[in-house]
Amino acid sequence: MTLRLGDTAPDFQAESTIGPIRFHEWAGDSWTVLFSHPRDFTPVCTTELGYVARLAPEFARRGVKAIGLSIDPVASHQGWLADIKETQGQAVNFPIIADPDRKVANLYGMIHPAHDEVYTVRTVFVIDPKKTLRLFLTYPQTTGRNFDEIVRVIDSLQLTDAHRVATPVNWKPGEDVIIAGSVSDDEAKQLFPQGWQAPKPYLRIVKQSAA
Ligand code: BEZ
Repeated sequence: MTLRLGDTAPDFQAESTIGPIRFHEWAGDSWTVLFSHPRDFTPVCTTELGYVARLAPEFARRGVKAIGLSIDPVASHQGWLADIKETQGQAVNFPIIADPDRKVANLYGMIHPAHDEVYTVRTVFVIDPKKTLRLFLTYPQTTGRNFDEIVRVIDSLQLTDAHRVATPVNWKPGEDVIIAGSVSDDEAKQLFPQGWQAPKPYLRIVKQSAA
């Protein structure tokens, strides 16, 4: 199945390091970051899982739950967790799905056979509380992901869901934002009474604090 933005994230049941989970039930009303890594006891994955665990306070502030996946079994995940704590100085504080039959990996298109027939690539999905797919990125196995970028995208999604704005290139929270194209100038006068800068009629810039 090819997943696209706006699709409902497929539900599944799987074994994990916190026991059996039903994905939608586990996600509840939270945003979710679901990410696959190729296999256990590998160096890049080890650094990624340690970093994502360190992001727990940032995720909690944004109402986000993280969940990892690899095709290795739970017993293998459990053995690896100790190594991650030892080498990354941080215990993993989120579940890791065990997907030995590749059920979830195939459901989410995490196996890219021309890249690797057996193991998952590095995919990351951002799923909102309605279970809608809002972002996915796919990285090759040899490139560790930038999870700060995932947090940045979640900030943008949460802002643009709440206000009729979009975020420009390399935007970071607190920086200027763009009035959404769907907002007419008349509507914008109501929404942004302090006005905006418009170097072009379609490029209307306001302070984030005005949104
Ligand atoms: C790693 O996590 O280091 C890795 C996993 C699979 C292929 C290449 C690197």
